[in-house]
Amino acid sequence: MAEIAPSILAADFANIQRDVEMLNASQADYIHVDIMDGMFVPNISFGMPVCEAVYKHATKPLDVHLMIEQPDRYLEAFKKAGANFLTVHYEACPHLHRTIQHIKELGALPGVALNPHTPVEVLSEILGDVSLVLIMSVNPGFGGQKFIQNTYQKIARLQALKEKFGYTFKIEVDGGVNLDNAPLLVKEGVNILVAGSFVFSAENPLKTIADLKSS
Ligand code: DX5
Ligand code: ZN
Repeated sequence: MAEIAPSILAADFANIQRDVEMLNASQADYIHVDIMDGMFVPNISFGMPVCEAVYKHATKPLDVHLMIEQPDRYLEAFKKAGANFLTVHYEACPHLHRTIQHIKELGALPGVALNPHTPVEVLSEILGDVSLVLIMSVNPGFGGQKFIQNTYQKIARLQALKEKFGYTFKIEVDGGVNLDNAPLLVKEGVNILVAGSFVFSAENPLKTIADLKSS
């Protein structure tokens, strides 16, 4: 059974408290918080104040996904804004080991994210240091995009590395997740499914979260 992290990016920002309370009442395990800077990705989402507002009402841990350049500048601010998992992109971190240690020192759980074109093998020297590996199954920047099929074999390769070396990190997949692809993703080794538009555009988001969880 997978853990579910609905993405607040797809919520109604004018009713953020209502939507967070819906997630509190659901079977979701985390609330996924997408931070976009208009530089690392072509879109700007929101920053620390909105993360804090979500945190204020949330009873589930925040899974903060930083799609920003030079994330080291903001790690402390997002820890203060409520991050439990704090995930940076491999592609944005020339000194990834240092960044991961910094996240640990702040008391958050470090995650590393990979864009669709980045092979999992680039993480071989850091897999023992992270709590989470986030595999992007769309190009980051927008919700509501189409799932990239190549993701399955990438997850299988990551799961094989995890088993071979006995690592304990969780595997998370993010982008275009729905009930069609969730069962196969879980079968390949995914521990956490992120879902934005599939949850928030559903007629019954609570049921959709429960269905994803049992997939
Ligand atoms: C994309 C974000 C995702 C996004 C997922 O850049 O990282 O977390 O919110 O949204 P859906 O599930 O709609 O693809
Ligand atoms: Zn995300």
